[in-house]
This record gives sequence, C-alpha cells and structure tokens, in this order.
Amino acid sequence: MDENPTPTSNNPHRGRGTALITGATSGLGAQFCAQLAAKGLDLVIVARDGQRLAELAARLQAQFAVDIQVLAADLVSDAGVQLVADRLSRSNAPVSLLVNNAGFGMLGNFADNDLDAELRHLRIHTQTPLVLMHAALRAMGLGAGGRIINVASVAAYTPRGSYSAAKAMMVNFSRWANVFYADRGISVTALCPGFVRTEFHDRMGADQSKIPAWAWLTAENVVRQALEDSEAGKSVSVPSALYKIAVAVARIAPDALVERLARRGR
Ligand SMILES: NC(=O)c1ccc[n+]([C@@H]2O[C@H](COP(=O)([O-])OP(=O)(O)OC[C@H]3O[C@@H](n4cnc5c(N)ncnc54)[C@H](OP(=O)(O)O)[C@@H]3O)[C@@H](O)[C@H]2O)c1
Repeated sequence: MDENPTPTSNNPHRGRGTALITGATSGLGAQFCAQLAAKGLDLVIVARDGQRLAELAARLQAQFAVDIQVLAADLVSDAGVQLVADRLSRSNAPVSLLVNNAGFGMLGNFADNDLDAELRHLRIHTQTPLVLMHAALRAMGLGAGGRIINVASVAAYTPRGSYSAAKAMMVNFSRWANVFYADRGISVTALCPGFVRTEFHDRMGADQSKIPAWAWLTAENVVRQALEDSEAGKSVSVPSALYKIAVAVARIAPDALVERLARRGR
C-alpha cells in the first residue's frame, strides 16, 4: 500500500467524503476519479498498475487539492480483494461512495474458452464487487450511510455469454440492495452503459470496426449521468436516450435477434 502526501492548495468543495474507485487507471474509473475529485471528494484509487495509479493521484492532487490514497491490488486475488475490503471496513476513515468498476472482457465463447480464465472473469465482475459491497454495506450501515455504484452494462439486458450473465446479476442485486438498505441511508445503483470509448475493447483485442460511430458514448458523459442518478437514489442508470431505447427493445425482442445485434461488440 502506498499513501500519498496531503496536498497543500485549497479546494472550496473539500470535505464531501471519500470515494473508493476500483479500476481507476483508465476509462470509466479514471473519469469517476476526475469528476469526484472535482466535486471535492477524497479518493482511494485501486487497480493493479501502481505506477499509473501514482501518476493519476499526483495529477488529481495537483488539480483539485484532495487527498488520494493509492491501493495497488489485483482484484482476482484473495490478497488484493482483502486489502480493499479492509480499507472499506476502516471506521476511522469511512468511505462514503464505493464504485465497483474494475473489469475486463473476453473474446470467444464460454465452452471454447479456458475455464480458469472464465472463472477469473466471473470473479472480477461478480464475486469481487460482492465482497467489497459486503464490507462497504456493513461500514456504511454502522456509520452515516453512503452510496454504491456497480458498473454493469446494457449487456445485462441481452443474452451475450458469461459477460452479460455476470452484469445481469449485478443489476438484479443492485436493484434489491437499493430498496433493502435504503432505511440505513445507503443507495445502490447499477450503471449500465452501452459502448464507451475506453481501453476495454483494445485490451480484449475486439474488432471494433462493426460498431458504428454513433453507438459510442464518452466516459465523461457516462460518469456524469451515473453520478446524477446515484445522487438521485436510482437503482439503475442507463446513460443516453439511445441506450434507454435499446434496453426497452431488448426486454421484449426475441433472444436470437438481440444476441445477433449484441455480438457486434465482440
Ligand atoms: N467500455 C465499454 O464499452 C463498457 C461498456 C459497458 C460496461 N463496461 C464496464 O466498465 C467497467 C470499466 O471498464 P472500462 O471500459 O473503463 O475499461 P478499461 O479502460 O479497460 O479499464 C479497466 C480498469 O480495470 C482495471 N482492472 C482490470 N483488471 C483488474 C484486476 N484484475 N484487478 C484490478 N483492477 C483491474 C484496469 O486497471 P489495471 O490494468 O491497472 O489493473 C483498469 O483501470 C468494466 O466493469 C466494464 O465491464 C465497459
């Protein structure tokens, strides 16, 4: 664990609490960090690449004068998940917003893929966020409440292999938790973006040529909408009118049609 020094300059929005963001080094996670730091929240930032985390922390501290703690952790390892869960459990430094965002995609189909790789994929998209939620819900429930954002996907509404199944679980679980823990002052929001320009598809090695330009969202807009919806206590956030319509259609269209359309993302 690497703690960063407290910044010296002033941010008039300071003191709004602390957000812990997983998958902070790029894409949606880095955007959550920037927008939350701009709102005056202190940050705990988590990913595997400690060097990249330290650079992000230095940049945001200089720009927004918030405190940033760096936790380099592999969230498909027991030690990495425990490190982050322990941080969420600290009552003397409470986390008011947990963003379960870290994740990666896989090419190929479930039966042809290596089973261990599929299980690591399942773990980062479901088991890890659940372990972190467990720690956060307990700490928030004993304290002043808080908010949780689980980054799912519009894929949750489509039949699209183990990825969509994992995201569907997080949407369903978030919807329940948002109702159940409301009286403890805790909101839980599943964020369901469509295609977002991040490192996600490049890291996966996906062919993006069949995804039309109009289908892409920016991380900036997705995160802005997610934070608005979380502040409003919504169970599910689907940024952009386009993807709200896509979700509505996917709920009633035949599986074979939806699967064929969703396959373009691989
Ligand atoms: N981009 C899209 O089109 C899209 C659409 C819907 C939903 N999503 C979801 O959005 C979330 C964020 O993805 P993104 O699009 O922002 O992708 P990204 O740019 O590739 O970022 C993924 C982040 O997760 C971290 N990460 C990956 N494996 C990790 C591990 N084992 N332990 C800890 N951190 C790990 C990466 O950091 P390190 O490599 O440094 O560990 C990185 O910070 C994912 O849950 C994804 O499923 C993405």
